[in-house]
Amino acid sequence: MRTLAVIACVLITGFAQASDADKRRAKYNYQMHCQGCHAPDGAGAGDIPEMKGHVGYFLETQAGREYLVRVPGSATSALGDSDLADVLNWIITEFSGDSVGDNFEPYSRAEVGRLRQHPLNEVEQYRVELLDQLSALSQESTQ
Ligand code: HEC
Repeated sequence: MRTLAVIACVLITGFAQASDADKRRAKYNYQMHCQGCHAPDGAGAGDIPEMKGHVGYFLETQAGREYLVRVPGSATSALGDSDLADVLNWIITEFSGDSVGDNFEPYSRAEVGRLRQHPLNEVEQYRVELLDQLSALSQESTQ
């Protein structure tokens, strides 16, 4: 029994360390590739939208979920698919606050790889339409 408990402990600590390392790497990649525009805490500035406290709302529709990958800052970044998926998942856990539901399904490398092949043009207009759809949805759910 005791041996089992020790093995379980070692395994659990091993996993925890791996995910801490992944988080540190994602944060570092955010700092190197995204923060220059988006600010360290996702606050944005000027033309750069505030992600802090808001970014999770996009996940309420499939088009919104895809938008977060297809936006040029994500889709055309120098990061590989796996690193980009980790950065997006990190952004969502760090910055969403109450805007993300408990049922958030992290982006996978494959999903990101597929979506980023279709980067958005005319982002501003597309974003306005997405936000309109999202606010219509949230009005429906409060009626
Ligand atoms: C050169 C500045 C710049 C850099 C660097 C940048 N972005 Fe952005 N980002 C923007 C702008 C501007 C927008 C608003 C949409 C648009 O016009 O593209 C945006 C929007 C976004 C959005 C959607 C947020 C919203 O509320 O609409 C996400 C998600 C995002 N960026 C992720 C990233 C990630 C991840 C990185 C780093 C890999 C990154 N961005 C790097 C400028 C940048």
